Amino acid sequence: MTSYVIGLQCRECGRPYPRAPLSVCEYCFGPLEVHYDYAAVKTELSRAVIEKRLPNMWRYRELLPVDGEASVGRQVGFTPLVRAKNLGRRLGIRELYVKNDSVCFPTLSFKDRVVSVALSKALEFDFDTVGCASTGNLANSVAANAASVGLRSYIFIPANLEMGKVLGTLIYKTNVIGVDGNYDDVNRLCSEIAGKYQWGFVNINLRPFYAEGSKSFGYEIAEQLNWRVPDCVVVPMAGGSLITKIRKAFTEFEKLGLVPDNRCRIFGAQATGCSPITSAVKAGRDFIRPVKPQTIAKSIAIGNPADGFYAIKTMNETGGWGEDVPDAEVVEGIRMLAEDEGIFTETAGGVTVAVTRKLVEQGRIKPDEVTVIAITGNGLKTQEAVQEHLTRPEVISAKLSEFENRAFNAVAAR
Ligand SMILES: Cc1ncc(COP(=O)(O)O)c(C=O)c1O
Ligand SMILES: [Zn+2]
Repeated sequence: MTSYVIGLQCRECGRPYPRAPLSVCEYCFGPLEVHYDYAAVKTELSRAVIEKRLPNMWRYRELLPVDGEASVGRQVGFTPLVRAKNLGRRLGIRELYVKNDSVCFPTLSFKDRVVSVALSKALEFDFDTVGCASTGNLANSVAANAASVGLRSYIFIPANLEMGKVLGTLIYKTNVIGVDGNYDDVNRLCSEIAGKYQWGFVNINLRPFYAEGSKSFGYEIAEQLNWRVPDCVVVPMAGGSLITKIRKAFTEFEKLGLVPDNRCRIFGAQATGCSPITSAVKAGRDFIRPVKPQTIAKSIAIGNPADGFYAIKTMNETGGWGEDVPDAEVVEGIRMLAEDEGIFTETAGGVTVAVTRKLVEQGRIKPDEVTVIAITGNGLKTQEAVQEHLTRPEVISAKLSEFENRAFNAVAAR
């Protein structure tokens, strides 16, 4: 199978680099990005070709940076795009959709997309050990996908993560290291370790390849909308990579003639307790002022986001906006999506739903605009966030009379 990757290229100065585990330009310290031969892709890729392929993210393989077939995560992606009529009615959007990566295979978050690319590259580059710095979902995904191909893995997480995230990593018998500190401390440590050990760190030396996996989230939205780009998309932000890659996906599809046009306004969502990117957008700054995270939305609690600068650009240049919500609204967001659409999302999803509500209230998203909410992770992993807010079940003995006398009215009254 042909690869359409020309090589890596510095996003700032444009210097070319070979296809290698590198992430930073040695001249200007700009980030490296995968560079494709789009003219060649265009001769190969059409809607009909894509539609004939299996329903997973590799149906867009010409636009993903693996050489040959992917060797990790062949079943990842093509999650449902759900028409969210009830939530749309509640929020005041006539045509609302939820892109539901809370059911992404195998670890129930969009991180399986980035990890399948990163670990396929790790095998191509002959690494026998991989690692990551993670706020939880990436930890789950690296551990699971590494286990599936016999790669050794070292996973670094803040020590205070939710039990579901920790247990959902330990089960794969990987090497988990809890660091006393926040994600930014973990990431700093991992950069030092990656400099010293010859390991494939998915979000450090493999980052340019890893990040490209997120484009599949955007490709799927466009294909599932019957080959059109939505008017608005709302995306949760941590490091700020996913939001930039959704934009890249739509831009590439337009360039390749797979969608008629692309006027999507891209909106970023954060928790107020960790909102370095939305604060910059609101203040009209093009640079990040790092913060110390203090929020229940731990999966997106990154105080010094690596792609913050490009995330700001994405929102500004597409005519979008950045908003944030306090933790109480995060919980409300989780509950609204569950009650209206039967989808249990994690805290990041609660942030995105609540921010969407705020954007409609502000008049930034209009009732007749086709809007997609990016739901990127599963609620079973962050049960701590909601357990205090739900009433325990009424307990009775197994008798009809007990149900009728005690439970029926009490439960129905809730
Ligand atoms: C559930 C979830 N959503 C969104 C994100 C944000 O991704 P990014 O770091 O690319 O902004 C993360 C990152 O960890 C996440 O775990
Ligand atoms: Zn450069």
